[in-house]
Amino acid sequence: MDSKPGTPDKLVVENATKYYETQSGPLHAIDNFSMSVKDGEFACVVGPSGCGKTTLLWSVAGLHPLTDGKVLLDGEPVTGPHPQIGMVFQEANLLPWRNLTKNIRFPFEIKKVPPDEAHIEHLLDRVGLTGFGNKFPRELSGGMQQRAAIVRALSFNPSVLLMDEPFGALDAFTRDEMNLLVEEIWLETRKTILFITHNITEAVFLSDRVFVMSSRPGRLAKIFTITLPRPRTLDMLATKEVFDLVNEIKAEIEHRPPANEDASGQVSPVADEVG
Ligand SMILES: Nc1ncnc2c1ncn2[C@@H]1O[C@H](COP(=O)(O)OP(=O)(O)O)[C@@H](O)[C@H]1O
Ligand SMILES: [Mg+2]
Repeated sequence: MDSKPGTPDKLVVENATKYYETQSGPLHAIDNFSMSVKDGEFACVVGPSGCGKTTLLWSVAGLHPLTDGKVLLDGEPVTGPHPQIGMVFQEANLLPWRNLTKNIRFPFEIKKVPPDEAHIEHLLDRVGLTGFGNKFPRELSGGMQQRAAIVRALSFNPSVLLMDEPFGALDAFTRDEMNLLVEEIWLETRKTILFITHNITEAVFLSDRVFVMSSRPGRLAKIFTITLPRPRTLDMLATKEVFDLVNEIKAEIEHRPPANEDASGQVSPVADEVG
């Protein structure tokens, strides 16, 4: 399925299979998973807990090898960490003994390259963290820590941003705020974003396309194209269109027909979390 015909593929996963070696034998995490993300596209992968989403993302980031298959960025194989790929994890992973400024500059110290101060200042301003540079992680809320992690990931100006359930630990209001912020940043920068979540509403809200992963070993079950206009608004989440989409995606994950209206016109409620 092609969301934007003619737009080149930025990121391609080809027949990805991953086994982990464990004490009780090989564990089959993902199986023959293929997907492609267009240049500038916002793609989400949803699937139940343990289906191999993080495994997939780490492979795309070049953080661990696939057992079989490959990942291509602009047509070139990704074989290790890549300067064009930024990553945001579920935990902000800030160093507790460094303040915000020093946390964001830490990757530059490791790589022994000077940070682009103007770009970092712009990003801090963009996510609402100007003036918080001297604060330590323990002084920042979970949402602010993830804002800092987004700044850190974008500070190298990568063309691809990978996000692994970055807002899974946040309360619902903060998650909404963060989703609005991520869409704004994406609309401004048009980075290619591959975002992992097990929250179907979040996936629908953010995505151009939602890639549904089966339970482990993770396989590609179905692709949904989301045609809601941009910028998206929280009001859209209360529409029948979104309700039906979320229901349909959840049914796909659970291998059941979508819930239907009963004789009284009532629709059975659907939880939007899977796993
Ligand atoms: N380093 C590892 N060694 C062995 N098994 C692992 C490792 N990482 C993940 N797994 C297993 O692989 C499966 C997929 O994990 P993961 O990719 O983290 O799933 P998800 O992110 O969808 O919750 C799970 O059964 C998990 O226990
Ligand atoms: Mg995970």
